[in-house]
Amino acid sequence: MAVSVFPSPAELGAALAALVAARGAARAGEGRFSLALSGGSLVELLARHLPPALRRPGGPAGEPWLLALCDERVAPGDNPHSTARAYQERLLPRLPEPAPTLLVPKAELGPEDAARDYGQRLRQAFPGAAVPEFDLLVLGLGPDGHTASLFPGHPLLQETEEIVAALTDSPKPPPERVTLTLPVLNAARTVVFAVTGEEKAPVVKRILEGNEENPLPAARVRPAAGELLWFLDEAAAKELTIPVERHSGL
Ligand code: 6PG
Repeated sequence: MAVSVFPSPAELGAALAALVAARGAARAGEGRFSLALSGGSLVELLARHLPPALRRPGGPAGEPWLLALCDERVAPGDNPHSTARAYQERLLPRLPEPAPTLLVPKAELGPEDAARDYGQRLRQAFPGAAVPEFDLLVLGLGPDGHTASLFPGHPLLQETEEIVAALTDSPKPPPERVTLTLPVLNAARTVVFAVTGEEKAPVVKRILEGNEENPLPAARVRPAAGELLWFLDEAAAKELTIPVERHSGL
């Protein structure tokens, strides 16, 4: 595990965008680059910083990227809280060609059917793999230690069979959601947590320095054969005492 600390969310966003761009460029010529993204503040971080990073040399070329969601908020009707919608409005129109292939839950089906359908489409997108192996998976962290839509103490933390699951009791609104499960998060080649803000400092400390018997959801993300990165801003890192790699300003 490597922990990188940036002076501000802007620097963190730029570094995250550079990581995504570099990993995408590294796959070009070898096949499709698969990227799974979370919602929340991450949408804005990427919308600001990813499009310029991809316009530099080494940006997307060859096969379109596969862009999937780590979780989606299911809500009736027009669903203003939809993560897919946020990415469609904020990020996708600004990305250079070729446009990514989008794989998102169909929230209009309702949580159970959307989870089943998303699981099937994900399996088709990773033929032959027991569990989809994303090249890069970007996660956020809630102040309670949740990540994707996996919440503390929730039975979904025990899921070992399904790659996508529905929940109807999310403590973070809206209550109905669809989420990738831990087996998928832990099968990724690289997982990066992007966390900003003082409000997250205590839980960041608990996850990175604690050794709890019943770990918080984010602490259960330990890719079996992959790489685990934490990108924090100074505020989110302020309680840490473990060694971290500090990055200077832009
Ligand atoms: C969502 C998410 C969720 C998010 C964390 C952190 O639907 O909100 O995908 O898991 O990543 O709650 O959100 P913030 O970065 O906005 O605090």
